[in-house]
Amino acid sequence: MKTNALGKYRPYLHFAPQKNWMNDPNGLIFFDGEYHLFYQYHPDSTVWGPMHWGHAVSKDLIDWEELDIALYPDEHGMIFSGSAVVDWENTTGFFPNGPGLVAVFTYHLDGEAGAEPTQTQGIAYSYDRGRTWVKYEGNSVLTSDSKVDFRDPKVFWNDKEKNWMMVLATGQTISFYSSPNLINWNFESEFGEGIGLHTGVWECPDLFQLQVPETDEIKWVLLVSVGDNPEFETGSQTQYFVGEFDGRTFKPDHDSIHLLDFGKDNYAGVSFSDIPQIDGRRIYLGWMSNWRYANEVPTNGWRSQMTLPRELSLQKVGEEYNVNQLPVKEIESYFSIDSVIDGEVSHENGTKKYPVGSPFVDCSINIERENSQQFGITVNHSKEQTTNIEIDYNMNAIRVVRKDSGEIDFSSNFIDDQIVKVENINELNLRMIIDSSSIELFINEGQYALTSLVYPDHACESISFSSIKGSVILRDGYIAKPAQ
Ligand code: FRU
Repeated sequence: MKTNALGKYRPYLHFAPQKNWMNDPNGLIFFDGEYHLFYQYHPDSTVWGPMHWGHAVSKDLIDWEELDIALYPDEHGMIFSGSAVVDWENTTGFFPNGPGLVAVFTYHLDGEAGAEPTQTQGIAYSYDRGRTWVKYEGNSVLTSDSKVDFRDPKVFWNDKEKNWMMVLATGQTISFYSSPNLINWNFESEFGEGIGLHTGVWECPDLFQLQVPETDEIKWVLLVSVGDNPEFETGSQTQYFVGEFDGRTFKPDHDSIHLLDFGKDNYAGVSFSDIPQIDGRRIYLGWMSNWRYANEVPTNGWRSQMTLPRELSLQKVGEEYNVNQLPVKEIESYFSIDSVIDGEVSHENGTKKYPVGSPFVDCSINIERENSQQFGITVNHSKEQTTNIEIDYNMNAIRVVRKDSGEIDFSSNFIDDQIVKVENINELNLRMIIDSSSIELFINEGQYALTSLVYPDHACESISFSSIKGSVILRDGYIAKPAQ
């Protein structure tokens, strides 16, 4: 763990590059005992620019070591987002001497003299656990005659069909391609017209299976990030669909819109490939920012960080399925419990304050409503700087208010309320991970997530609980601080 003094706002528990600009996670994969995090990286500046793939590795998903840049732009273009797979069976022919990694990414080539850019898919392979890469000499392996937005390939081995599948963002749709060898790709189908959220360009898809716990029900989940569009207030967001995939076509079970996160700061997230079967988790992480203000956030010399890695699971709610998320269990060894809160009654206008004073915090609490109309949890970053989590029983909603959280004036959109409507609000479970410049809120065992950046002088001096009109009972709660 990084316990040395860090620069202002630098996170302890979250990955951020040492220097310069980062956006989407790319090529998330587990191979040979290591988790790999590649990412959209601009090594020459703290704002977005010609994209490379940066690279970091970790043994536990929390403590990351930054390595050399993995992929540089070349004559086919910049290296946009994509994924990585292990070619276990040497389907490519690149690996006669044992399995290795293949990266599948988008080449983005700017058009000359105002012409449209061209996006195509390229591949590269590595014999040394992702440290160095050889670009395939036959690149690009997939092009389009008609689509300008043609990017962010997420590839997986479909064991049932015995082929590779690629999920690709194609404007306002997702396109599916199959391949025997990662080199020759066949179009299978296109999904998305007239369904889901279309406020911006579709980007960074992912497709995987999840099982409903304690049943034999398995569904396919399609994640789709939706880009920023100045005509709408929301900025960039991520939605998902739950349904069936028969190896060629995706059919959702619903026509309602499902958001993966109700905060502003979780975008372009995808899941890790090749998590060993014995582990069996679907582990996901996102870019903890929003295109609306990502280039302006007030950090010095570096910009952007990832969300905590999260374990995804499927919960059946009525006739629909919800994708739940909680931080991976690996974070638990970074904490030790400092205060226990159990059976505490929070009365009208009485504030109960728990001193914290640590650089990062894990706080969890069950909140049983008695007759409260509104209950508030305040993260006191300092005396003057607070982030408020307001539970509004009349609106059945939880709001995260960051207007007093510290530096906010770099963007007029940063202070917009972040709200989630919550079922069963009278019996709530809240979990909150606070780091130097973020608060990740998980509600009802991860049924809802709300991820927010904040820029206070200190992470957390204390946490207070207060009820307005009426009371609540606090149960099974803890506040955990960094483990020694
Ligand atoms: C999403 C995105 C991707 C693209 C990349 C470029 O944030 O726009 O669609 O590949 O960023 O950096």
